Amino acid sequence: MRLVFLGPPGAGKGTQAKKVAGEFGIPHISTGDLLRSEVDRGTALGQKASSYMSTGNLVPDEVVVAMIESRVLEQDCQPGYLLDGFPRTLPQARALDAAVQERPLGRAIYFEVEDAALIDRLVGRRTCRNCGMTYHGTNRPEKELGICDRCGEEVTQREDDREELVRNRLEVYRRETSPVISFYEDNGILSTVAAGASIDEVYGSVTRVLRGLGESS
Ligand code: AP5
Repeated sequence: MRLVFLGPPGAGKGTQAKKVAGEFGIPHISTGDLLRSEVDRGTALGQKASSYMSTGNLVPDEVVVAMIESRVLEQDCQPGYLLDGFPRTLPQARALDAAVQERPLGRAIYFEVEDAALIDRLVGRRTCRNCGMTYHGTNRPEKELGICDRCGEEVTQREDDREELVRNRLEVYRRETSPVISFYEDNGILSTVAAGASIDEVYGSVTRVLRGLGESS
């Protein structure tokens, strides 16, 4: 259960990661959520990350690598962990491999979705700034408009979910993150999930991969 979720912005990594982490009892480690929390708290790291995030570009490798290297070695990650949004570049993938060489990754799941669906999902996404729960205007609306079902706080659009920034994030993904898919394929730990289906159907595909992982290890 040492897992990486890979895929373009809007592929549903965060949505599925919350469900998997809850069901299998492992920490869900999202670099996007960690960085947004640093930005909200106005830390030095947050101030450094903010200008990259607000333009849809990647935060420098050394910043995110330092954050994750120590996190995956913490006690609560002993039974396993789920990395969402990391690694996103080849140097990040190589740094992670080196950090966890004694207990290597079990599986990298690639969420494959067409661009048109990604743009619709991101532009329609609403996020709770308090607990990180995500909603979508039509696919997964909150029960009471603008209020988080889970914690009752306000649900808003993420700054980088504006369409022009979404298009830049997709370009950055193609350029920087696509090579990471081949990296894990070459390592023999990649599984691809057709993530254009409904949330429940995608979850079914993900858990089938994970059960296979349990059976074979
Ligand atoms: P991050 O927060 O990681 O954003 P992202 O990868 O762009 O991914 P998203 O959160 O946008 O999408 P998701 O795949 O999680 O989709 P979700 O489940 O929410 O990163 C943000 C920024 O931080 C980056 O741009 C960068 O600046 C920085 N950063 C983060 N990590 C970094 C790193 N490693 N290195 C450098 N910089 C880094 O779903 C999207 C929407 O679709 C939701 O509304 C959801 O309800 C809906 N939905 C989900 N699944 C389905 C489905 N099956 N059918 C219909 N709707 C669905």
